[in-house]
Amino acid sequence: MANPGSEPLRAAITAVAMYVPERVLTNAELARKLDTSDEWIVTRTGIRERRIGGPGETTSTMGTEAVRRLMSQRGLRPDDIDALIVATVTPDMLFPATACLIQDQLGLTQAWGFDLSAACSGFLYALTTGAQLVATGAHRRVVVVGADLMSSIIDPLDRTTAVLFGDGAGAVLLEAAESGYGIMDFHHRVDGSGRNDLLMPAGGSLLPPSTATVAARQHFLKQNGKVVFKFAVSQMVGSVQVLLARHGLTAADIALVVPHQANQRILDAVGQRLGLPSERVASVLACYGNTTGATLPLALDGALTAGKIKRGDLVVFAAVGAGFTAGATLVRWA
Ligand SMILES: CC(C)(COP(=O)(O)OP(=O)(O)OC[C@H]1O[C@@H](n2cnc3c(N)ncnc32)[C@H](O)[C@@H]1OP(=O)(O)O)[C@@H](O)C(=O)NCCC(=O)NCCS
Repeated sequence: MANPGSEPLRAAITAVAMYVPERVLTNAELARKLDTSDEWIVTRTGIRERRIGGPGETTSTMGTEAVRRLMSQRGLRPDDIDALIVATVTPDMLFPATACLIQDQLGLTQAWGFDLSAACSGFLYALTTGAQLVATGAHRRVVVVGADLMSSIIDPLDRTTAVLFGDGAGAVLLEAAESGYGIMDFHHRVDGSGRNDLLMPAGGSLLPPSTATVAARQHFLKQNGKVVFKFAVSQMVGSVQVLLARHGLTAADIALVVPHQANQRILDAVGQRLGLPSERVASVLACYGNTTGATLPLALDGALTAGKIKRGDLVVFAAVGAGFTAGATLVRWA
């Protein structure tokens, strides 16, 4: 311990930016192609529309635009960024990492970086990882990106998943926090027993691409929705409760929960179990659907724009994703 008795150095989120493609895909449009309806989608998920990448748009182009906006908000030059972590399950390609592509597109000459794969918990895990780089004093400015072009791995013929997902990107800047502010704590866990409940079966070393895997539609996301739903509610609530207990807090102390955006019924159940009214559970699901790595920064950006977070507020992020992965992070907003 470098400075016994004093507060540990923490990282704070000092800027937030987002990018979503222009093209809006409405429930009505989906209902013209699939055996579904606006009424089913809205009542079962809360989603009304989602964004879909246009020609030439990829995870790296969306992530690049989000980081460009982040830097311009703060007047940062490309050589001001020390590291870049990209949470994604839809990298432009398996390698090189999307972080390298964003670094190159923005000319971040002093940055190193990497991709982090934890599905819908990816942004939270990347936030925790980036925060350690700042908290140790190793770096001054770390950019964390959550970006996914889910339309590239969604089966357009599968109504059980095609209605849920969308494309987008968000980015946050991490810098040293003033004493008493910033990212206070996290609780994360993985449970690989859920590996068959949410996955893209082929394209990796287990099932390399072949005409058979393409014919069997194994390069698309597959999901056991009911199992994932139950896990999502119990794990997000449980993770938040661990942090509250560890810090002697109750839900009444929390200004806002920013949960992974998968289904409004999941968010409602999380709010109810924590005893929080719906206005204290951030939701942008209606506009964007589930954008996987991007949902937390999109929801955070929405909450900030709506004036739901002010300096000194306690904010809790909660996430759950394929793997399974899960966790929560406690922040005193700076
Ligand atoms: C996927 C999900 C919306 C399905 O909702 P649900 O209430 O569990 O619905 P069910 O799967 O029980 O399906 C009910 C019926 O609706 C049908 N259905 C499924 N998708 C439909 C659609 N888009 N339109 C119309 N009907 C649909 C089913 O086929 C089923 O019909 P059946 O009773 O004749 O078999 C829900 O389970 C969910 O959100 N799960 C979690 C997803 C998630 O969080 N994923 C990401 C985590 S990171």
